Amino acid sequence: MDALRDLPATTDETLDPSGWSDVRALSHRIIDDAIDYLSNVRERPVWQEMPNDVKSAFEGSLPHLPMPLDDVYGHVAKNVMPYPMGNIHPRFWSWYMGSSNFTGALADFLAAVQGSNLGGGNHAAVSMDTQVVNWCKEMIGFPSSASGTLVSGGSMANLIALVVARNVKTGVNIREDGVAAIESPLRFYASDQVHSCHRKAVEALGLGNSALRRLPTDVELRIDVAALRAAIAEDRAAGFQPTCIIASAGTVNTGAIDDLQALANVAAEEGLWLHVDGCIGALLAIAPANAHRVSGISRADSVALDPHKWLHAPFEVGCVLIRDASAHRGAFAVSPEYLEWAPRGLASAAWLHEYGLQTTRGFRALKVWMALKEHGIEKFGRLIDQNIAQARYLTRLIEQEPLFELVAPTSINIVCFRYSLKGMTDVARKALNIEIMLRLQE
Ligand SMILES: Cc1ncc(COP(=O)(O)O)c(C=O)c1O
Repeated sequence: MDALRDLPATTDETLDPSGWSDVRALSHRIIDDAIDYLSNVRERPVWQEMPNDVKSAFEGSLPHLPMPLDDVYGHVAKNVMPYPMGNIHPRFWSWYMGSSNFTGALADFLAAVQGSNLGGGNHAAVSMDTQVVNWCKEMIGFPSSASGTLVSGGSMANLIALVVARNVKTGVNIREDGVAAIESPLRFYASDQVHSCHRKAVEALGLGNSALRRLPTDVELRIDVAALRAAIAEDRAAGFQPTCIIASAGTVNTGAIDDLQALANVAAEEGLWLHVDGCIGALLAIAPANAHRVSGISRADSVALDPHKWLHAPFEVGCVLIRDASAHRGAFAVSPEYLEWAPRGLASAAWLHEYGLQTTRGFRALKVWMALKEHGIEKFGRLIDQNIAQARYLTRLIEQEPLFELVAPTSINIVCFRYSLKGMTDVARKALNIEIMLRLQE
């Protein structure tokens, strides 16, 4: 005891606020500001260029000494909040993405307050994460025996699925022996409209960009199924190993939806994995007037979907579902000694990190869960139908306007059009349309 008493006293510095009542007042102000920010969004421009003094505010050096939180927030309010990307604005009609929602923002706050690590364990956030994955299965008609995981977004969801497809279909112990053990080069097939994240995925899988064979599309920009069959036959004859078809349920360029039933038939006949990139369109399955357009999605071996698109969850949250749960776990599970399962207590539940690449995982489920509970799935389905009706309305307006021209068929909620004067060269037309776009933004 005497020896202990002789130890130097430990400091008890913490990151807690110096006074909870001050931070309470500031927090209330931040919430009030946030509500004003959202309720007045229509009164602000969608996007605006940052003035030079704002740009230079991000060039300051590493802070060594403290600053009152009020002042810190003052910087955010002045230099960050007025200069958003703009995608929460009702008039943001630029790239394809979701527009967040306030309930989700509250959920992200609460998730950070609770601070749980969704690597796994026996706690409520893990149960909720599992429930949200189960709801995603239900939304697209996947069996309850399937597995899934919430990830940062569609790119990661697709990557996880393609890892499982590669590992299952090669027939070698790829986890142990690596891609060098693959006997004949693998081939993945997708349309020439496939999202760029698939290129990153096959490259990261060690297969190389040439392993992803892009196939021509029909007039609706859907994969040409006859060309797919021919490519598979040609590749087999040339000694390649056809492995996986990547169907697009909603391409990012035009919203085209591949014929999922036809692709499921080809995959079944040829023994290939069928992955559906449904980051945009998988959730059509919940929209009464449009669900038929993704019929066949439930036949896939894996599906990527993006709650941060048509469920408008705040970034980031994507989801991958894998029909064969043991193949999914088999592709990623490692059981280090510090994450050993225990019969009771905190370590007595599933380890969610065994279904993907992350160990520490954020509590993404809460923002999806709260918004789904608040609104119900039927409302989200109606909103998707409404969004498609809006795109059709815009398409009809463009058809009636002689100076505008549709450049691709409208399939879902993406309308591709341009301003077009008779007699203009393609180069001049493109330059003019880019200028119109830039002036609209500015
Ligand atoms: C069809 C498709 N796949 C994948 C992605 C990538 O998703 P994320 O941006 O969430 O990583 C997108 C993004 O728009 C997409 O449209």
